[in-house]
Amino acid sequence: MCGIVGYAGAGSAKAMILSGLRSLEYRGYDSAGIALVRKGKLLVRKESGKLDALESKVGAADFDAQLGIGHTRWATHGAPTRENAHPHTSVDGRIAIVHNGIIENFMQLKQELITKHGIRFQSETDSEVIAHLIGVHYRGDLVGALRAAAKRMHGAYAVAVVCADEPDQIVAIRKDAPLVAGICEEGGLLASDIPALLKYTRDVYLIENDEIVIVTKGAVQIFDEEMTRMNRTKTHIDWDAQAAEKGGYEHFMIKEINEEPMGVRETLRHRLDANGELLLDDLEFTKEELDAIDRIYIVACGTASHAGLVGKPVIEKYARIPVEVDLSSEFRYRNPIVTERTLVICISQSGETSDTLEALREAKRRGAKILSIVNVVGSSVARASDHVFYTWAGPEIAVASTKAYTTQIVSLYLIALHMGRLRGTVKEAESKKLVGELLEAPDLIAKVIKDEKRIMELAKAHYKKEKIFFVGRGSDVATAQEASLKLKEITYINSFAIAAGELKHGTIALITRDVLFFAVATQNYLYEKMLSNIEEMKARQAQVVAVAKKGDKRISQAADDTFFFPDCSDEVAPIVAIIFFQMFAYHVAKLRGRNIDQPRNLAKSVTVE
Ligand code: AGP
Repeated sequence: MCGIVGYAGAGSAKAMILSGLRSLEYRGYDSAGIALVRKGKLLVRKESGKLDALESKVGAADFDAQLGIGHTRWATHGAPTRENAHPHTSVDGRIAIVHNGIIENFMQLKQELITKHGIRFQSETDSEVIAHLIGVHYRGDLVGALRAAAKRMHGAYAVAVVCADEPDQIVAIRKDAPLVAGICEEGGLLASDIPALLKYTRDVYLIENDEIVIVTKGAVQIFDEEMTRMNRTKTHIDWDAQAAEKGGYEHFMIKEINEEPMGVRETLRHRLDANGELLLDDLEFTKEELDAIDRIYIVACGTASHAGLVGKPVIEKYARIPVEVDLSSEFRYRNPIVTERTLVICISQSGETSDTLEALREAKRRGAKILSIVNVVGSSVARASDHVFYTWAGPEIAVASTKAYTTQIVSLYLIALHMGRLRGTVKEAESKKLVGELLEAPDLIAKVIKDEKRIMELAKAHYKKEKIFFVGRGSDVATAQEASLKLKEITYINSFAIAAGELKHGTIALITRDVLFFAVATQNYLYEKMLSNIEEMKARQAQVVAVAKKGDKRISQAADDTFFFPDCSDEVAPIVAIIFFQMFAYHVAKLRGRNIDQPRNLAKSVTVE
């Protein structure tokens, strides 16, 4: 998604902004631009493509200044062309803006700017209206003009503005799109994401909705809507810039898979004491509150929603509260039955996914309590929630989510046990048993990772296939769905996942010799059923690779090939088995020469609808 960087200092704004934008490259983008204020003039350059293209255009020494803004754009309204790239400028070319998010009423504003002010638009973007709105309101006061413009804008935005007539300050505003600021020796900094600042400071100001921020060489000043000065304390960021780099691995994705044992271990360590007792009191649920809850919705997108599917039966088993899993983009529009007795669990790695944030707000409006499971500290989802459970996966950079998924499942399990203990629906021994099994999960995950050679062997055998489907039963349906998502997003192979029992209701017609089926068979209580599904597929000449627990001879005889993962309980199996599928997708993508960390058409966090 788009990235914003701003710099006001004594050094080279061009260098600082480009370096900031580079550290946001992982988010995905297709054009980039920069605007600098120098000697009463605004210098603007933008290019389609990657930052190298922009860098070669701004190389000349006279294209520099000590204040400016930059942007990497991931196209939404309008193609990824130079015209559509940010910054956009006012008609007189003295004001420049960069924008993340979406202006929902831009068509109406555009029409008004054309008819009332005779403005000729240069791009197809929604963002350009912001530059013109500020331009028509500008009377020598940039803050005032930005505030007046923001009053007209509906949607989500983080906007940073510079003006040739006000050469000492960057002015910015946010609503439902992230924005952070900081101060370091080099000057004042502004960005859409923390990693852009980490090289310079670990103490950042998190800007809240509707706040205005003024960044100068020596200060960050934050104001509310009425221009009352806010006294914001800085948030210290523990993870360093190194953690956001590849650390010797070829791709972020494989690095992050290798970090899964640590992520799971850390998530458990922060929530269990030395005796394995749960430490979740900060969630501040009382028994009475929990007893009043009659329904739980788990609301999330993509991978996070698959974690929800794994968590659902576990919450139902231990907490004995009915759980529904809903996609955020569906939930927010489907008039769900939500009351004061509903608990909504939002799961989001980034905490900035627009659909999840809006679903959360919708649930809140209807009176639900919100518990979120989030990886990014201080993110919008976290801040909008009543209770937050942070996963300890560390920064996840690759577009394909891996370590966030396993830590999300572990979090849901711990929440299930905590609720069950408070409600008295789970016995201590039962809770201890699951905790004990979870504590073994990091080592089991590490064993699968160690089996990389075998995984590469399977990837080599099948990377040319054009259709690869996944089947399973029980929580293996979720594993199958996540396995299929991983494969399609980074390899572009045609794939889907289906509950194995559904095959005979239609999908079985797709079976031909050239289709590869992965049969996920991790659930002991569904073993015989899964075995017959494999036989059913084999009888129709499908190629079947089973993924089963070590020593499972019957499955390996029924299937063409088998990947064995270490024996473990049914509940822990989804956390362990998925590692194989993540690595299989990774190696297939590598063999196919794909852009693994930044697959086509995708971005790390989807902050627009
Ligand atoms: C998974 O590999 C994807 N990148 C995607 O499905 C992702 O999980 C989804 O967009 C939700 O993101 P979030 O967890 O940051 O809310």
